[in-house]
Amino acid sequence: MAEHILLTGGAGYIGSHTYVALIEAGYEVTILDNFQNANRSVVERLEALTGKPVNVAEADVRDATTLGGLFSEHQFDAVVHFAALKAVSESVDRPLDYFDVNISGLINLLRVMDAAGCRKIVFSSSATVYGVPDETPTPETAEFRAMNPYGQTKISGEQILGQLAAADDRWNIGILRYFNPAGAHSSHMIGEDPRDIPNNLMPYIAKVAAGELDELQVFGDDYDTPDGTGVRDYIHVEDLARGHVLSLAALLGDSKNHLVNLGTGIGNSVMEVVAAYKRASNRDIPSRIVERRAGDVPIYVAKADKAEEVLGFRTEKSLDEMCASSWAWIVGPHSQEEPEQ
Ligand code: NAD
Ligand code: WQD
Repeated sequence: MAEHILLTGGAGYIGSHTYVALIEAGYEVTILDNFQNANRSVVERLEALTGKPVNVAEADVRDATTLGGLFSEHQFDAVVHFAALKAVSESVDRPLDYFDVNISGLINLLRVMDAAGCRKIVFSSSATVYGVPDETPTPETAEFRAMNPYGQTKISGEQILGQLAAADDRWNIGILRYFNPAGAHSSHMIGEDPRDIPNNLMPYIAKVAAGELDELQVFGDDYDTPDGTGVRDYIHVEDLARGHVLSLAALLGDSKNHLVNLGTGIGNSVMEVVAAYKRASNRDIPSRIVERRAGDVPIYVAKADKAEEVLGFRTEKSLDEMCASSWAWIVGPHSQEEPEQ
């Protein structure tokens, strides 16, 4: 019988792509999501895409009773935990909400898992745990530096999981530090669907290319980078989803805990992303240099070889493919569906 995976936050951007990858890999999957940052129509699109009904529990990861009920109803073999709040500037305005969902939510989930005897978890971490790193490409051994409450929640999450694994070796834990996820599914049926004006570069550029926003503000061109604009390691969301399948397979097999960066090891500047998106969309993307954004890091690039050694993970898709899939998603019929509360 197929192993049964609980995907918290499975209706979100990375979660929905990982859902498809897990179904394709033969797993049975249940999504838990409260839809606070996802559109309910994603469920029908996942059904159309996989040709299978989607099991969904609409619940908050902080709700111990509902979570406990779900674990009594199903025998989960492992959990992939995406559910979290992720907007950096919002975390500065509402830190307690971020601590509550991202840290209390994680602890609540771990308690329910422990009681049910399910002790395998893949955790969504982020390059943000490195703050402004001393070394680029940045290895997993770089120290933690919290830049904002959101970053603190990822550091705390990792520390809680690390201490848990050290205290009780029945736990198998995969910590994946994503660099900058971008792009959309090759079916063009799921993609990044920000509710408001996007905070992140690629969805913002997409809306400028589509004519929904007037221009891109480039946050600074005086960084110590080749063209002065910020450099990031963009990773295709389908590569990222595959990284989760490999992490899970390792935990379900005989491999123990792992902590890896998921990135390409290649950096691209803001202006390089704009140029790539212009090529993909064949649209003009007006841009203007403005002040640096507070709290921005000049360069984030992953040292990517540990994921290859430990999980056999290598990215396959280029920046051009991220831009092309993002554009196909944006101009397709599904990205503009009315968000639901
Ligand atoms: P997303 O907002 O699209 O997905 C998160 C999902 O979790 C959403 O569907 C949302 O409705 C759900 N959710 C939020 N709070 C919940 C709660 N209390 N209970 C149940 N469900 C809840 O975000 P994403 O980009 O897919 O990110 C997924 C994970 O990856 C997050 O943990 C995020 O911090 C992490 N991450 C994201 C990025 C990025 O740039 N997108 C980078 C590094 C790490
Ligand atoms: C990329 C580059 C900006 C928007 C954030 C979070 C991080 C992680 C991923 C979850 C930077 C520049 C952007 C714009 C711009 N999330 N930019 N104009 O800052 O690397 O990371 O998302 O874990 O925690 O901090 O991503 O896409 O916002 O920015 O010039 O309108 O694009 O300055 O150089 P970032 P981003």
